[in-house]
Amino acid sequence: MIAMLKAIAERCSVRKYKLDPVPEEALQEVLEAALHAPSANNARPWHIVVVTDEAKRQALAKTHEWASFADEAPVILVFCAEEERSPHWWIEDCSAAVENAMIQAVELGLGSCWIGVRGGGDLPARHEQHVRGILGIPAGIRVLCLVTLGYPQPPFQLKPPGPMENVHREAW
Ligand SMILES: Cc1cc2nc3c(=O)[nH]c(=O)nc-3n(C[C@H](O)[C@H](O)[C@H](O)COP(=O)(O)O)c2cc1C
Repeated sequence: MIAMLKAIAERCSVRKYKLDPVPEEALQEVLEAALHAPSANNARPWHIVVVTDEAKRQALAKTHEWASFADEAPVILVFCAEEERSPHWWIEDCSAAVENAMIQAVELGLGSCWIGVRGGGDLPARHEQHVRGILGIPAGIRVLCLVTLGYPQPPFQLKPPGPMENVHREAW
């Protein structure tokens, strides 16, 4: 297995973390990986808020019930976007940045978990509002997700890849 596929296969959602802080150098690499992501028209609409402050992490963990573990992680990355810069594609652009960051985290022995925040459709806007309020994020900036980051506390569960039957060659 080549190194990149190994890191991809070893990524899993980590919801328990050791107390050890994330070294600044490792954090920089994770952020750099995110910022290398592709984006439609090279708009790069993303902004990332790095949160280590305990009170803010505790507040972010109250975003919704599936975020309750977030304050266990020493770092929370808040992935946001200038929606006006890329009205149609900001979700895809930011998602690519999130995945890059999560894969680089594995490479550094770190764990992460994507916590969805974005409102719209049948998803409530209040989750984004909650995060905006804690971090002073301006109204025009959308919040895609929180990504917890830290050294994983086992056990955590690696999942097999999705079924190859879902890959179609030449036609459906
Ligand atoms: C858009 C999105 C939103 C997610 N939101 C949450 C969440 O709010 N809380 C959580 O614990 N996990 C969340 N996850 C993680 C998924 O539950 C997880 O990726 C999935 O169960 C597969 O497990 P794995 O990441 O270990 O492969 C989210 C993942 C994605 C892609």
